[in-house]
Amino acid sequence: MKTTQELQILSLNAFGDRPATGLTPDIAALVERRRRSFGAGSVLFYDEPLKMVRAEGAFLYASDGRAYLDFYNNVPTVGHCHPKVVEAVRKQVGELNIHSRYLFDVAHDYAEKLLATFPPALSNVVLTCTGTESNDLALRLAKRWSGGTGFIVTKTAYHGNSATVTEVSPSSYKVGAPPPYVRTVPAPDPAIFGNDIGQGFADAVAGQIAAMQADGIAFAGLLVDTIFSSDGVFADPPGFLKKAVDVARAAGGLFIADEVQPGFGRTGGGMWGFSRHGLIPDIVTMGKPMGNGYPIAGLVTRPEILTAFCNDFGYFNTFAASPVATAAGLAVLEAIEEDGLIVNAAGVGKHLLARLTRLQSSPFIGMVRGAGLYLGVECVADGLPSSDVAKTIINGLRARGVLIGAAGQYGNVLKIRPPLCVTLNHADTLVDAVEDILKGMG
Ligand SMILES: Cc1ncc(COP(=O)(O)O)c(C=O)c1O
Repeated sequence: MKTTQELQILSLNAFGDRPATGLTPDIAALVERRRRSFGAGSVLFYDEPLKMVRAEGAFLYASDGRAYLDFYNNVPTVGHCHPKVVEAVRKQVGELNIHSRYLFDVAHDYAEKLLATFPPALSNVVLTCTGTESNDLALRLAKRWSGGTGFIVTKTAYHGNSATVTEVSPSSYKVGAPPPYVRTVPAPDPAIFGNDIGQGFADAVAGQIAAMQADGIAFAGLLVDTIFSSDGVFADPPGFLKKAVDVARAAGGLFIADEVQPGFGRTGGGMWGFSRHGLIPDIVTMGKPMGNGYPIAGLVTRPEILTAFCNDFGYFNTFAASPVATAAGLAVLEAIEEDGLIVNAAGVGKHLLARLTRLQSSPFIGMVRGAGLYLGVECVADGLPSSDVAKTIINGLRARGVLIGAAGQYGNVLKIRPPLCVTLNHADTLVDAVEDILKGMG
């Protein structure tokens, strides 16, 4: 049951390349069709893959006729198929949809509303289509501004899938490792850094800056996901990130906050994960929840950083900042406000964290942590990280109609990040189901 083997991010809860036997005939046939066309690039969840047919609010409806309570998907953040977003996209796509080298109002209604959620210094926004593109551009801005090429990321970070962004995503490597200009530090885990995580994490960053400089690599920046999601979800204590950011800046680098996971209210303490740490990043990247499923992403930064880059390079992105993308983005911001989703994330998140923490009486549950509706639950066996226990719980939840995922260096952390519209009852359904599974595990 136990493993301390490190796992690559896409292997977590994956159906893998096993034969499609034991599945219902329609699912087996679709798995085979998928393998024929998607080939080795196909990644599917669960021992029994799910075929989804529609979604609404906090629920996904599958071809087996069942409703699945969604505690996994952070993209449909305001709720699956939220009527406001659906209507905004439907209306705009029938009216005007062009690239952004013409003038139209909605892009600026959106840009201004989005920028108003950031500290005033971060007053320029560049829109893109994916989190990867945002991080790719952020790396280019940081290199131009700092004159360096070296980046520091966490050990199990994931920041996207382009050639350059894969290099700062150590969790993507099945073989090999990031290049010499990318250095890693451990996740800000109390098991590694003890009680003073802020100092320990900052010292680790300082050590890696010194090591890269000793190898003749100039430091460009520190890039972290401010909820450390793929590392296994680390939110506490609030403010622990500040010392590492000070170290990065003192060494001439920029701080890039990747808000693709925690952004748009998920942590329940405001719109952005970095505000939990009482700091202002140099660049903030975002994506996933930004369009509730419509592909829109972007970065915000200080004008001087963007200007320096634009003096050297042109940047244009065909589909970004289109009327439809920005109409979707605007509807999401309005829905977050109108539906009170940040307050809901805080309230339901607090209840969920309290109930999950009580599961620590089980020998299979270790640390429980997180902020708002981004929670991580460590699975252990004989006191060691266990991805097998995590898999048992994840598949057991699927059988009971609840969807969650896994994260962390050892794939042993239950990753809980539902749409922000989930209720206290939904939270209880999840925890009751986990309790039931744990009971069955002895
Ligand atoms: C923290 C983080 N950054 C960036 C990305 C990349 O975003 P995208 O898949 O939209 O390119 C992801 C995707 O999972 C992510 O988790």
